[in-house]
Amino acid sequence: MTKSTIGIGLIGLGVIGGQVAKVLTERADMLSQQAGAKIELRKIKVLPADMDKPIARSFNESLFTTDDDEFFSDPDIDIIIELIGGEKPAYNYIKRALDGRKHVVTANKEVIAKHGLDLMNFAASQGVSLYFEASVGGGIPLINPLQQDLRANNIKGIHAIINGTTNYILTRMSIDGIDFDIALKQAQILGYAEANPNNDIEGIDAVYKLAIMASLAFQYRVKPEDIYHEGISNLDARDFKYAKELGYAIKLLAIALQYDNMIEVRVHPVFIRENTFLANVNGVFNAVSIDGDLVGHVIFSGEGAGPKATSSAVTADVLRACKDVLTSAISKGINLSTQKSLKPISQITTRYYMRLNILDSSGVLASIARVLGQHDISISSVIQKETDDLSKTAEIVIMTHPATSQSVDEAIKELDNLDVVKKIDNIIRVEEL
Ligand code: HSE
Repeated sequence: MTKSTIGIGLIGLGVIGGQVAKVLTERADMLSQQAGAKIELRKIKVLPADMDKPIARSFNESLFTTDDDEFFSDPDIDIIIELIGGEKPAYNYIKRALDGRKHVVTANKEVIAKHGLDLMNFAASQGVSLYFEASVGGGIPLINPLQQDLRANNIKGIHAIINGTTNYILTRMSIDGIDFDIALKQAQILGYAEANPNNDIEGIDAVYKLAIMASLAFQYRVKPEDIYHEGISNLDARDFKYAKELGYAIKLLAIALQYDNMIEVRVHPVFIRENTFLANVNGVFNAVSIDGDLVGHVIFSGEGAGPKATSSAVTADVLRACKDVLTSAISKGINLSTQKSLKPISQITTRYYMRLNILDSSGVLASIARVLGQHDISISSVIQKETDDLSKTAEIVIMTHPATSQSVDEAIKELDNLDVVKKIDNIIRVEEL
């Protein structure tokens, strides 16, 4: 017999959980109509402290429970939404829900990046589904396109601005010419930086999101620890000044490429040409460019975080899960490729920007060029500004032709040992999109 009511259990009453609970109750009629059955928010699993939050007063107290057994064994709950974030205990809750044959919807990037493929297969073995559209890019559709709409393609590459906090900081540094610390403070005052800003600034948040997208795009297990990453805290106002002079923007990009059965995955600041779409994605906005061999380049862009945008993706997943409940659809899990392998970062080839502080005397440029040449690094252009008369030093910026990470690392070590090189201020990859 077809179900007339689908029961929802929600874990978490934080900013996102509260918003999702509101959408599920305030839009119950519209959502029920779309689902083809009455959608009923039956229980919200909370911590005792959640009940003191102002948002808690918007709901009938009987909805709340702090009792895990009561929540997970409620036979009238068909779909469990996990919105507490972090790896533990969220992972255990998701596992327990799937074990109890509940469909699961989550926005948890850390759990999905670390355990998503296993959880998808576990869900399939239990005859239920696991949806996680909101785990990457808030409300921007990315997971469903990668799992369905783009499936006929061999995905060649993903280039993504997938962390709003860092994109906000880089935008401020670029437009206002301010230093990193000041831009970070502004992001914190505006509430963009998460409780632990390190995850954003060091690129870890983007690593989780890239691991999820690359695993789905390439049908290959890309673990967070496989992804090379650099953060943005070493960037200086001077780098932005030179980038502009040379016709580039600086962005933190998450990059995943697939060619010749090799996979390249990395998150780091890059110079990209200022006339590209991604160079003009500013503030907290996210944008993901996916290159498929049939579809060509498609770009998804919008607000990558925030309660409203995230509730849009979570609720769409709930509707997908409702369809599975009503049709008893069996989720298929994921078949991973065993033919592919990861390219080590040392072998990855890009162009480079190098900013060096050098002694301004004869033969210095020649000795730097010699070291680069010995490591097979070819110079494409050099800028030298006026000498600082007091210190007798000058700043030079070198743009190179493509070189491997390994040869650049080795050359840098050697340059650092030259007496005439006072300081290697920054080395940033240049990406041609
Ligand atoms: N901290 C993330 C960002 C939002 O700044 O984009 C949540 O994924």
